[in-house]
Amino acid sequence: MTLLPRSLFGRTLLVLVTGMMLAEIASQVVNFFDRGSGVYRLGAQQMALRIAQSARILNRLTSAQRSAVIDEMNGPTFSVVLSSTPVDVGKGLAEHDRYERALSALIKLYLRSEWSTSVEITSLGRARRPRNYEAVDSSPLEQWIARHFYFVLPGTYSIVSQIKLEDGTTAVFYARIPQEPLSRLESLLPRLLLTLAIFVVLGAAAVRVITRSLERLARAAEQVGAEPEGAPLQEDGPSEVRSVIRAFNRMRLDLRSYLLERARMLGAISHDLQTPITRLRLRAEMLADAKSRAKFVRDLDEMDVIAASTLEFFKSLGNEPQRQPLDVGALVGSLCEDWSETGRDVTVQGLPRGPYNSHPQALRRCLNNLVENALRYGARARISIEDDDAALRIVVRDDGPGIPEQDLERVFEPFFRLEQSRNRDSGGTGLGLAIARNIARWHGGDIHLRNAPDGKGLIAELVLPRSRSSAVR
Ligand SMILES: Nc1ncnc2c1ncn2[C@@H]1O[C@H](COP(=O)(O)OP(=O)(O)OP(=O)(O)O)[C@@H](O)[C@H]1O
Ligand SMILES: [Mg+2]
Repeated sequence: MTLLPRSLFGRTLLVLVTGMMLAEIASQVVNFFDRGSGVYRLGAQQMALRIAQSARILNRLTSAQRSAVIDEMNGPTFSVVLSSTPVDVGKGLAEHDRYERALSALIKLYLRSEWSTSVEITSLGRARRPRNYEAVDSSPLEQWIARHFYFVLPGTYSIVSQIKLEDGTTAVFYARIPQEPLSRLESLLPRLLLTLAIFVVLGAAAVRVITRSLERLARAAEQVGAEPEGAPLQEDGPSEVRSVIRAFNRMRLDLRSYLLERARMLGAISHDLQTPITRLRLRAEMLADAKSRAKFVRDLDEMDVIAASTLEFFKSLGNEPQRQPLDVGALVGSLCEDWSETGRDVTVQGLPRGPYNSHPQALRRCLNNLVENALRYGARARISIEDDDAALRIVVRDDGPGIPEQDLERVFEPFFRLEQSRNRDSGGTGLGLAIARNIARWHGGDIHLRNAPDGKGLIAELVLPRSRSSAVR
């Protein structure tokens, strides 16, 4: 089983939405890091300025004043401790060295004096954090991202800068860039889901416009066989689809005129053959040898039948370029009656649900050929009519010898007759099934032959599809 959608609509939509989603994710991620690093860089600069200014203020105060000011300065992200010697805060991560240098240079710039300054970016253990220092949990992924992409790290990392004041005291500043909740990775998800929903809706609308015209084209292509004389397809949709529809309409016209031309030509040949055949017949009558005269006449009779039946077939198609709603039940009934009147055993069972768009004479001829075969090669014909949404089926069943499996298709070839029927001299020309299938296909349907399961007789099934256009409402 494949997970790919089967329809063009599904596939195009999938490709479109996946592509747009990937582009969106990429741009969101770039934006996420870019904005994150911008925010933290700015935060770090502000922090450097605050540290430098605090150091300069502390430098001017007496030690009694200093402790009061420090109490006011200390907060959750910033605190100062005064120490007589520099504090050992441990080495931070190597990746931070360049940020430490940059920060230290910045603080020196804001200090406007040459006091000894050191900056260490470090992950402080809980015990070493100054009191009321806000603890933030960040995931290992966030820490990894922060370490590799940001100037200074939010959350667990602190900037510890130590500045030696003029009286020799070291002011130790613990500063932390506050974490910005908007920049957290989880915040991307709802935004991506929203964009996904918008992409699906807009994409579906766009793809629908294209596939709708294609669908109509596909339906028309299906119908072209079933109804060559149907109305041309309306040219609309995108320009590419419009030009396909135009080409398609032209092809349909060509095909139709080809079919009609072929019918007209064969009809003309069969018609023109009748005169020479009649002349030959007259000449044959004059032959002295009775035996060869009889043979001649028999051959000429056969030619006559071939010419006449071909002519009749194409005439019926040519004269009825338009199909008309036909009560197939009544047609089969009257056919059955005609045969019964000549003493043949033909029965019908079942009724169609409604009229069927067809060429009445041609359809009658088609069915008649099947019934004629059933009666010629068997003794009786059982006709049954089945009708559903998909197709109207007319099944003709006989009780004859059937047809060997390997010949079931060959008997449709014009002039092909089975050996036993030739020997029986039953008088057929071998054109009946070819004509019947031709008529069935002209209606968009077909004829299938199979031997009865119990080995008794042949089952000939005429299938006439009930497409949108052939159904009569
Ligand atoms: N119901 C059947 N039972 C057995 N054989 C059949 C049956 N229908 C057709 N056939 C075989 O198929 C051959 C072709 O049939 P088709 O109807 O095309 O020609 P035909 O009956 O010989 O002549 P015609 O042109 O007069 O119909 C027949 O000659 C016969 O051998
Ligand atoms: Mg026949």
